[in-house]
Amino acid sequence: MSTQQAPVGVFDSGMGGLSVLRVLRHHLKHESWVYFADNAHAPYGEKTQDEITDRALSITQQLRQQHGIKALVVACNTATAAAIATLREQHPDLPIVGIEPGIKPALALSRTRRIGVMATRRTVDSEKFQRLLASAQVQAQFVVQPCDGLALAIETQDHKKIEALISLYTSAMGTFGTKTGAMDTLVLGCTHYPLAAHQLHRSVGPHVTLVDPAQGVTRQLERLLMQSERMATGQGIGGITACGTANLAELQVAMDRWCPV
Ligand code: DGL
Repeated sequence: MSTQQAPVGVFDSGMGGLSVLRVLRHHLKHESWVYFADNAHAPYGEKTQDEITDRALSITQQLRQQHGIKALVVACNTATAAAIATLREQHPDLPIVGIEPGIKPALALSRTRRIGVMATRRTVDSEKFQRLLASAQVQAQFVVQPCDGLALAIETQDHKKIEALISLYTSAMGTFGTKTGAMDTLVLGCTHYPLAAHQLHRSVGPHVTLVDPAQGVTRQLERLLMQSERMATGQGIGGITACGTANLAELQVAMDRWCPV
């Protein structure tokens, strides 16, 4: 298979990365994809940096050896914060795109200059995120909320728990809305959270903008594929191969829902 026709690998701790894959597929129609859900090791958000780095290295190795991927999207904020530097160091020949909480897009959108950020504890505590936040704090006020358990509740589709945790965390953050002093913008700093956008909107109100950085990831992947002359050629719509470390049947159900063919 030529490099152009090889698939792009996309991974996450579970089904969260499907919120990124659905946008990738929509814009890069001719590409084929291998989606890897590390669901036997989910959630990543409460693991150590070393544990997550080991998982990311092993998944990348597997995607290269078994599927011959031409590029990699780390569709997980937690794994990006913990492991992207090591992945790039160990795979210098592979174009790699990560994802980080959309702080910059939020700055461009917020009028009240009060912005909420929801993410996993590991992302919030990471140096990468703290640096990103520090660079933006002069321009707006941020309320950052680590959301223990929320990614797992979404992963297991525990709807009662999703509602309860969203209500707990959004009320702890303060007032949302478009009035002065309220948060009018909410950054979804974990790729699982856009899959609960409906419940989030119910909790914070319909006028609060939810920021999901999947579009930026898509633009960056497109740029890297063009630069490295790896864009897929031809007219056909690319397919998706699903793989993971557990519950493939559940992953397939999630894929049919979020990324229907
Ligand atoms: N979806 C992931 C993220 O973007 C990881 C969630 C988890 O496994 O804790 O951070």
